[in-house]
Amino acid sequence: MELSKLAKGLKGSAIREMYNQAMTMDDTISFTVGEPDFVTPKPIIDEACARWESGMTHYTPNRGLPELLQAIAAFHADDLSPDPDSQVMVSCGATEALQMALFTLVDPGDEVILVTPAWPNYFGQIGMVGARLVCVPAREENRFVPDPDDIKAAITPKTKAIILNSPSNPTGAVIDRDTCKALADLLRGQDIYIISDEIYSRLVYDTPYTSITSFEGMKEKTVYISGFSKMLAMTGWRLGYAIAAPEIIRNMTKLHENGASCLPAPSQLGAACGLKHCVPEIETMRLSYLRRRDLICSLIHDIPGMSVQNPGGAFYAFVNVKPLAEATGMNSRALCMDLLKKTGVVTVPGSGFGEAGEGFIRITYATAEEKIREGMSRIKGYVEGFNVL
Ligand SMILES: Cc1ncc(COP(=O)(O)O)c(C=O)c1O
Repeated sequence: MELSKLAKGLKGSAIREMYNQAMTMDDTISFTVGEPDFVTPKPIIDEACARWESGMTHYTPNRGLPELLQAIAAFHADDLSPDPDSQVMVSCGATEALQMALFTLVDPGDEVILVTPAWPNYFGQIGMVGARLVCVPAREENRFVPDPDDIKAAITPKTKAIILNSPSNPTGAVIDRDTCKALADLLRGQDIYIISDEIYSRLVYDTPYTSITSFEGMKEKTVYISGFSKMLAMTGWRLGYAIAAPEIIRNMTKLHENGASCLPAPSQLGAACGLKHCVPEIETMRLSYLRRRDLICSLIHDIPGMSVQNPGGAFYAFVNVKPLAEATGMNSRALCMDLLKKTGVVTVPGSGFGEAGEGFIRITYATAEEKIREGMSRIKGYVEGFNVL
């Protein structure tokens, strides 16, 4: 008997490959999985625990509990101002919302444009709907911000959707206001949906954040994706959400009903409490990531053969290791494996984020400052040990 071609064809992510490899070793310093090292803020945990205790152990509405849908709508009152009764849905992490969006908008054979380097799951998710992936590279010399002309050149009559991710995982690039406007001008007249993954939008450091949805005609054709994992350190709670036109949300909810069905009430009420009462905690965590960003960038600049574009958001440094790769004859995957074996420092090869990522490694800095110092000092020792740069 044969398993499905789809299942057999799906690749695991390079992030998990490195993570699993590191699990077999002692004294590692992990710069891999993109998750905050903070524990979820206490008011959220207290709220959820109280709800479990009170017996909230049952199924919930597919689209989400009204309390959470309303809290999300209120949180977005100044930007998307969605109607909580028809334009918001809750999902099993942003991951599921992204998959439901693709299933809702795209048919097999349609083309989906993806700006790369990109979060590995997009590749698998586009494959799962049977769409054709069209990669548009975001260039290092443009701080990894996509060039609207490159996107224009990638559009064909078969293009059905484009996935935008700002701030970006893995590059930390934030799409600036002018580029957002140029993209909006390009996409306004086209029959192309936008899936805008803005899960890191509360974690920006240098300039005010702009969403493509703020430009005329964009809300109507965009599925806005966000979640609680990054901004409220709730990765393990598996809660995300989508905001879109009522017709899109209605259809995404049908898919969600058939897939995940619904999310636990205590988690949803915990998240609602977070949106209402934990905005100061989001700011405290953001400031801490900003300090770590500055620290890690200064330490990277001190290492021969490595350089980094200042990441404007999220918590990733996408480090150019091309001189080191050239001098040692190792590609980014071989370098990351060698680094792990010799120093116990776990990073992710840039090639895991698409071909455009070759020659880079991703370092997650959502980790304590002492660990950043120790990990970067081991990396420096490793590079200097080659004596070639
Ligand atoms: C760009 C991006 N989108 C979505 C997700 C998924 O988030 P969630 O935990 O809400 O599923 C991640 C997680 O790393 C991510 O980096």
